[in-house]
Amino acid sequence: MTFDTRGHNGRMTHFDQHDSFWLFGYGSLIWKADFAYLERKPAWIFDWSRRFWQGSHDHRGTPSAPGRVVTLVSERGARCDGMAYRITPAVLAQLDVREKNGYLRELVPIHFTATSAVEGLIYLATPDNAAFLGEAPLVQMAEQIAKAHGPSGDNSEYLLNLERALHELGVSDQHVSALASLINPAK
Ligand code: SIN
Repeated sequence: MTFDTRGHNGRMTHFDQHDSFWLFGYGSLIWKADFAYLERKPAWIFDWSRRFWQGSHDHRGTPSAPGRVVTLVSERGARCDGMAYRITPAVLAQLDVREKNGYLRELVPIHFTATSAVEGLIYLATPDNAAFLGEAPLVQMAEQIAKAHGPSGDNSEYLLNLERALHELGVSDQHVSALASLINPAK
């Protein structure tokens, strides 16, 4: 099942009058920055955990054999590390297309230091979107990721690129590394 969020996201005008603002990426937006940005730096958000619970029917899978990509699930006290990009509002149209299968724009506090936060944007796929797959045993999720391919490439490439990017950021994410080692036992 797919859920095209472009119409909904296009009506979110919060940043339209800003010269620039921060976007926080926690998945492919960390390692595939194929959009214009003014600046980028590592950042984190609180009360969210990264999980491979969102279906990908358009990028890393197909409607009949969806892949799995990350979304965030609410978890009080959790910290999710990623990459923040300072962008102009004009870039959102391109991002809305890229993230159109279930991801909605959402405002969050983005942290760059222990003592300060700025209001920024994430793309969030919530459990009520039609492409949400939810939790499954880790081995089952790894098998699905190992098999899935889509127009943007292998689902396993998405997972391994994310794992590498997090490693380069010095971030340890148990969920991502457990899946990566099931896909690629050499790791
Ligand atoms: C993100 O990277 O922040 C959103 C999920 C994705 O595009 O992989």
